[in-house]
This record gives sequence, structure tokens and C-alpha cells, in this order.
Amino acid sequence: MSDVEPTITWRELLTETTILLGESPQARWLCETACGLKGEEFLAALDEPATERMVRQLDGIVARYRSGEPLAYVTGSWSFRTIDLMVDRRVLIPRPETEWVAEKAIELARACSPTRLVADLGTGSGAIGLSLAAELPLAGTQVWLTDASTDALDVARANAAGLGRMAANVRFAHGSWFEALPGELNGCFDVIVSNPPYIDVDDVEVQPSVREWEPSLALFAPSQGLADIAVIVAESPRWLRPGGSLVLEIGHRQTDAVTRLLSESGYDEVRILPDLAGRPRVAVGRTTST
Ligand SMILES: C[S@@+](CC[C@H](N)C(=O)[O-])C[C@H]1O[C@@H](n2cnc3c(N)ncnc32)[C@H](O)[C@@H]1O
Repeated sequence: MSDVEPTITWRELLTETTILLGESPQARWLCETACGLKGEEFLAALDEPATERMVRQLDGIVARYRSGEPLAYVTGSWSFRTIDLMVDRRVLIPRPETEWVAEKAIELARACSPTRLVADLGTGSGAIGLSLAAELPLAGTQVWLTDASTDALDVARANAAGLGRMAANVRFAHGSWFEALPGELNGCFDVIVSNPPYIDVDDVEVQPSVREWEPSLALFAPSQGLADIAVIVAESPRWLRPGGSLVLEIGHRQTDAVTRLLSESGYDEVRILPDLAGRPRVAVGRTTST
């Protein structure tokens, strides 16, 4: 018998994990997380032996995933547009449809020149606001990220730190919707964007794992999910400059109600846009230009 310690390579661990989970991409992401290498670097390390500590870590995260914890929380990171975000149970896992909401906000903010002031209300992980910071020109842009949850703001701050210089123009504020912002910014914003909680508390279509794992403050709102949207729509016109825009992610059954709220609050140009799957999920209101 050899006295050499038995070793296991990443290729063997990847095969074992894929068989155990019956899901190939997930097995790969979990192995990459335990190995600490991603993409090409992970592939290059496939025939390297894993350390005991790495194997223990893989066992731990595979067990968490098998118990029903969302993959994003298990791996601790999630991609959103051009950036990688750290995520955990303090924040909503950013959704692909929200990338489209960010796209609209970026498009509108980019059209403001040479300077632009934008706010992402209810920023969570920072997904929308940090995308604005990363994709708009650094010079001339200021982005405010707010949340009522101090835990969420901690995550957003950590994600901003991870972006380095790209987030040099980002400011953070804690509080409920517009209460978070300094009063002197009244009437100054070019674009305000938000993906607020908009799910009705009794909505039976919400997946059990979403209810169990993601923060309820991020998901649910009273009045058929419209309570937070109503506050943002009512208060936003006085925070926008003339001709400024509000961009909101909404539920696909809320289009009539949100259109009515926007019109009643004085928005004179209201558009409901489809997401990439063709469902009406983005509301855009523009205030009068003069
Ligand atoms: C649907 S999540 C969106 C998170 C992130 N913007 C995204 O798109 O992934 C809603 C966010 O709004 C925050 N929130 C809930 N109520 C709020 C309030 N009254 N004022 C400010 N933020 C609030 C939650 O903490 C949560 O981070």
C-alpha cells in the first residue's frame, strides 16, 4: 500500500457533483466557487488535485444547494449586465428582467448631456444603480443609491467597493423612498429608476423558495402590490427636473393601475414597455419639459 495521501482532481469532483445534482451548469458553478477559479482558469485546473479544505467547502455548498438554498446565495455572487455582484440573504437576487429596466434608465440618462443626476431607489445589491455607474461616463454622472434596509445598503456598498474607480461617482442614502435623499436635490434628477416591491402578499404564483429565502421587504407590498409604486409615482415629479424620467419595474398585471397613477401624478408622457419575453414590465413616465 502506498503511504501517499489519496488525492482527487477537480475533473473527478466535477463529474461526481454533476452526477449527484443531475444538473451540469450548476455543478460547474459550485465547483468553481469551491476551487476559487472561474471559466478558463477553472478548466485549466481540472487535472490539479483539490485540497482537503476545498473538498470540504464543496461538500458544504453542495449540501446547501441540495437543501433548496438558491444558487446565487450558495455561490455568493451573481452576474448582472456587465458587473458581478456579491449577493446573500440580505438582498434580492437580481433578475434578468431587471437588466432591461436598467437598460431603459441607462438609455435615458445617456441622452442627458453633459451632466446627469440619477437615483436608484430600493437598490438592494446595487444591481441597477451600479450598472448605471459602470456604463455611463464617469465624468458628469452622479448616481444615488438608496434603500430602507441598512443590510441591503451594506451589500450595495461592498459591491461598489468591488467596482473601484467605476463607482467613484456613487452616493448612498438610507431611508424610505424619497425621505432618504438630501432636500437640496429636489427638482434636480434627470432619471429616477426603481424596482420596488410589487408582489401582492397573497400572490399564489410566488415560488416557495423565493418566499422562504429572499427578503420579504424586497418582494411584497400591500394594496395588490401597488403601495410602494404609488408612493414613488406620487412623490417623484417634484424630485425630477422638468423633462426628467421615472423608470419603474412593475408586475405584468399592474399596467393599467400604474398608467393611471402616472397620469394622475402629472406625467404627460407615459409608456409601458415589454421586457425581452414580451411581457409589459417597465413603466416610463416623463414630466413636462418646461
Ligand atoms: C425588488 S427589490 C429590488 C432590489 C434591486 N434594486 C434589484 O433590482 O435587484 C426592492 C428593494 O426595495 C427596498 N425597499 C423596500 N421598501 C422600501 C422603502 N420603503 N424605501 C426604500 N427602499 C425600500 C428593499 O429593501 C429592496 O432592496
